[in-house]
Amino acid sequence: MSIDGKTRILAVIGDPIEHTLSPFIHNTLCERYGLNFVYIPLHVKPEALPQAMAGMRAMQFVGANVTIPHKSSMLACMDEVSEEAQATGAVNTVKITDGKLIGHSTDGMGFMRALARKGVSVKGKSILLYGAGGASQSLAVRLASEGVARIVLLNRTLEKAQAIKAVVDHIQPNLVQVDNIAQVDNYLSETDVFIHTTPIGMYPSMDACITVDLKKLPPHAVVCDLIYNPSETKLLEQARQLGYSTMNGWGMLYYQAVQAFEIWTGITVDTFIENPYETRSIV
Ligand code: ATR
Repeated sequence: MSIDGKTRILAVIGDPIEHTLSPFIHNTLCERYGLNFVYIPLHVKPEALPQAMAGMRAMQFVGANVTIPHKSSMLACMDEVSEEAQATGAVNTVKITDGKLIGHSTDGMGFMRALARKGVSVKGKSILLYGAGGASQSLAVRLASEGVARIVLLNRTLEKAQAIKAVVDHIQPNLVQVDNIAQVDNYLSETDVFIHTTPIGMYPSMDACITVDLKKLPPHAVVCDLIYNPSETKLLEQARQLGYSTMNGWGMLYYQAVQAFEIWTGITVDTFIENPYETRSIV
């Protein structure tokens, strides 16, 4: 990379930010597509978010990604927000055009593109979402527009699952059924795609695993874990040993980045970058 007078800036803002993989993905993409852009991590505290966005606008950044804890508070800083970001209640991508800040949510599409790369379609399928945090909401909102037959949304705190159901009901009424995670085994025989969205099993607690009897899934089921470090969680290891197709969270992380890159640049990305945690688990 060489920085000169024409270099444009992209950034990811979060608190904390030092573990982000976004600079690695985006700077690799900028290099592959020959763009004179640089993508930097910015540590922004919650109380400084409005000033940070005003700064980006003033300095004519191309755009930014947004991570924990700013995804929902970012909505209020935008001049315009996509329908999907509105429904998801979160902005993970900002495009700056003619001084205007436009907010998008690319997490749901990222997951769909990761599944598509594996040759999996969700149309007409029964989906089980285990967990009801921000990632789960972005998936539920996207899945509701993808023609799925049913979404079973399970969470330890039922109210959070009910809040997501209320949002999805506006897109597709009665698609979502909510229950407590303790009931998970009762839904498995009718699940085509199982998606684990909680942090259980993530580095450094890699021996942890949710309690679920995966044998009850039909043989064609796909088991997904949104965790990408380690690249194979205990859950995915069990699923693989039982003969199920599996997918970790790298594809979703990579393709939400690709989707953002495409929004900023207009380029259609046709390249894939491998998970750096594929062979080892590191901080
Ligand atoms: P993200 O925004 O990345 O999806 P999050 O908002 O922190 O992450 O959501 C974490 C999800 O994992 C939530 O559904 C949380 O359940 P609660 O809503 O009951 O808090 C779930 N989760 C986290 N730790 C858990 C645990 N030990 N057992 C069960 N669920 C857990």
